[in-house]
Amino acid sequence: MNSIFPIDIELLKPKIYFRPMSLVSEIFDLVQKQFESEGTGHDWYHIDRVRKVALHLAKLEGGDSEVVELAALLHDIADHKFHGHDLAVGPAKAREIILEKGGSVDLADKVGLIISETSFKGAGVETPVSSIESAVVQDADRLDAIGAIGIARTFAYGGSIGQPIYDPELVPEAHDSFEAYAKTRTSTINHFYEKLLLIKDRINTDSGKKIADERHKVMEEFLDQFHKEWEVDL
Ligand code: ADP
Ligand code: NI
Repeated sequence: MNSIFPIDIELLKPKIYFRPMSLVSEIFDLVQKQFESEGTGHDWYHIDRVRKVALHLAKLEGGDSEVVELAALLHDIADHKFHGHDLAVGPAKAREIILEKGGSVDLADKVGLIISETSFKGAGVETPVSSIESAVVQDADRLDAIGAIGIARTFAYGGSIGQPIYDPELVPEAHDSFEAYAKTRTSTINHFYEKLLLIKDRINTDSGKKIADERHKVMEEFLDQFHKEWEVDL
């Protein structure tokens, strides 16, 4: 004790508290860095919207928010479209990251399973979900593929692979296997009929369905106008 001051001088010294970063915030930072300059519609803002919408749906519908947030953050970490259409790469990479950052095997397994269930795999291919967490993440990802942002993303992706905006010679297909869906040569307008317009009827949750109905109308109006202009119907 210092003789001049009646209180312990040690108590006045600033203290630095080291608070360990949570697993979610560590993975948030890692994913944000990796997706910063993506230009195919799979940018960081897509991931962040899926994260926000998935957490919003989980609040209304239930589900463990840590599992939901991690799965949303990691759902496109190794997209099959950029890995020879191998559906196992994404879930494996997500598991690896969670374990590396100190997450439990149980958490890594849960997140890996959700990611394996998230992707759209063709009009005729069922994509069932095994938990409420998986339901809200799948809904959030699909909601970001429709509406005004969905339109922008699909043309960004179509352009990135050199696909035509529209080609009347190419007829939309209802793919009954993931292989056929992944390998098809299509136009971006056809992608609306092969995936985007089918989404509203494949949403899992009631809260997600309401959002999908509004976004679906935006795409229908866009397509009506597109075909009108294409036909030079003045
Ligand atoms: P998500 O990121 O929602 O899982 P995908 O990985 O299937 O969806 O595709 C990313 C974006 O690219 C989506 O908006 C999707 O509709 C679009 N997309 C996927 N395949 C095609 C395609 N052949 N032509 C145009 N857009 C596509
Ligand atoms: Ni996605």
